[in-house]
Amino acid sequence: MRHSLVLTAGLLLGCNAWAAAPNNEPIQPIPPAKVANPAKVELGKQLFFDPRLSKSGIISCNSCHNLSRGGSDNLQTSIGHNWQEGPINSPTVLNSRMNIAQFWDGRAHDLKEQAGGPIANPKEMAFSHQQAVAVVSSIPQYREAIQKAYKTDKVTIDAITDAIAAFEKTLATPNSRFDRWLKGDQQALTQTEQDGYQLFKETGCVACHNGPAVGGNSFQKMGQVEAYKTENPAQGVAGLTGKDVDRFKFKVPTLRNVELTYPYFHDGAYWKLEEAVDVMARLQLGRQLSADETGKIVAFLKTLTGEQPSFALPLLPPSTADTPLPQPFH
Ligand code: HEC
Ligand code: HEC
Repeated sequence: MRHSLVLTAGLLLGCNAWAAAPNNEPIQPIPPAKVANPAKVELGKQLFFDPRLSKSGIISCNSCHNLSRGGSDNLQTSIGHNWQEGPINSPTVLNSRMNIAQFWDGRAHDLKEQAGGPIANPKEMAFSHQQAVAVVSSIPQYREAIQKAYKTDKVTIDAITDAIAAFEKTLATPNSRFDRWLKGDQQALTQTEQDGYQLFKETGCVACHNGPAVGGNSFQKMGQVEAYKTENPAQGVAGLTGKDVDRFKFKVPTLRNVELTYPYFHDGAYWKLEEAVDVMARLQLGRQLSADETGKIVAFLKTLTGEQPSFALPLLPPSTADTPLPQPFH
């Protein structure tokens, strides 16, 4: 009896193999975040929001990776210390733990290594690791939090960046409508959105945008079929290797939450998702999509918006007499 029930269920599911077996799809549901060490995550959350890790005392990680706006700044390129024009578009921090490496050219191995970059970058937070350590050390509540999370009295840049990375690892966006559909909820997507997903596969987008993050897992040339024209001087991976074959190779961005993370591409040149899809189809695949096809793909892409991280805005412990003062104007 039990066997036949299982068999029947199997046959029924077989009629709708996609819904039943998301593993056959090139995109998989995004797993929810696991919090391994709450003490690290809480500390990292505060540090992510703390503008005292910048020279001006006004720029935090959240300034350019605004968690109220899909983890990006929605600017073509970011504004750094002294209103300096940033060199490249700010990618989202949402689901960034799934990236093969960090930055458009992958020059940071992981989130912890990455987090040290902006603090000391003169065009971003314009601080130094020593100064960041001095600020954190001057605040007793931070010292206690480091003691709790890392069992040490010594404040180091290692602990600061490790805690920020621990927080960033919790920034997952599960349960998008697309993921609910992948898991078998037929009602989760409209027909237009399902058609858009079919087109996304048939056109060949999935060759580069696949896996749970719908990207983030390889470096590919921007302009496979037709060259990409831009004023932005970034050379992609070639900037690191000096090799001509790596020219214009960038990390394939995740398409999770892509409706929130405009403008698009490393130079932030395109504000509309329709335009970005059209550029991709022509330059990467040599395909001219009709407005109807583009519209369907865009409808599908919007179903990739998941549940955004939700938490109380962290309260930051006050500075003390020993805390170095901000220097916003020099
Ligand atoms: C002034 C704006 C600015 C600030 C402040 C800033 N970032 Fe960024 N962030 C960027 C830009 C721009 C990039 C892309 C740089 C590149 O690829 O060369 C980036 C890249 C990243 C990435 C890599 C994402 C990916 O997909 O490759 C992560 C993660 C990240 N930042 C986290 C942080 C953290 C943590 C902080 C605070 C310690 C921070 N950022 C502060 C602008 C900023
Ligand atoms: C050959 C690999 C490849 C293919 C095929 C491909 N892409 Fe991309 N995609 C990339 C790369 C690389 C970038 C980043 C390019 C840049 O910023 O210069 C990108 C960027 C994007 C972006 C902008 C994301 C952001 O946050 O800036 C969207 C949207 C996008 N692709 C959608 C698509 C669609 C839709 C298709 C199919 C029509 C497609 N892609 C096909 C490699 C690919």
